[in-house]
Amino acid sequence: MNIHVFQNQQELNEAGAGIITSLVQMQPKAVLGLATGGTPVGIYEELVKTFNKGRVSFKQVTSFNLDEYVGLPIDHAESYHAYMNHHLFSHIDLPASSAHIPNGNAGDLEAECQRYNDLLEEAGQIDLQILGLGHNGHIGFNEPDDALTSGTHIVELKAETREANARFFDSIDEVPTHALTMGVGTILKAKTILLIVRGADKAEIVHRALTGPITTEVPATLLQTHPHLVVLLDAEAGRLF
Ligand code: GLP
Repeated sequence: MNIHVFQNQQELNEAGAGIITSLVQMQPKAVLGLATGGTPVGIYEELVKTFNKGRVSFKQVTSFNLDEYVGLPIDHAESYHAYMNHHLFSHIDLPASSAHIPNGNAGDLEAECQRYNDLLEEAGQIDLQILGLGHNGHIGFNEPDDALTSGTHIVELKAETREANARFFDSIDEVPTHALTMGVGTILKAKTILLIVRGADKAEIVHRALTGPITTEVPATLLQTHPHLVVLLDAEAGRLF
């Protein structure tokens, strides 16, 4: 595990975007695993700047997002479809047909999970999986539980997750109760995992995730078993390291 602590957000954003850029430059057909939430926004901004300077092209890249809310229209500003278009996809040359996000509005959600798993299987291994971290240790939307699921599945969101994400909605009642998420097995199969964590409110959970006992009650602790884990922390989140 490789942990980097940055004194300012800009340096962290440049480092994150730099890792993605180098991979795509070396491997134009890379498969990227993408995350949403507040954490990666600055990294996507840097990536767009790099693209605009003509230093990288995503024409041959394939991407898979980690998760999506169930029942939120894709044109709702807080759907992860809208988020990805707003922060990344509408600014770069990644073909729409190569950018995959689970469909949380599918009539048959079980079939949708199977479709997503099949697409992942066809694509082979994810080369670089970007991850944020929930306050309760969730990754993607894999919430703490007695057991974790390997492939894409439907999850009921924990109250604390809905509360944390309520800041993006007008009220907590608008935050969906369920989501589709890539499973922990798929995440751990990625060649490299890039975990990004910011803020004092995540200092304890990221420390526990990376140094505490491995338990499904803190899904991110499973990342300790991954052979190529790169962690980018801001100074607040990294204060216990
Ligand atoms: C969200 C997402 C995760 C994200 C995490 C942290 O609910 N499903 O993919 O990494 O929780 O979010 P944030 O970056 O906004 O703190």
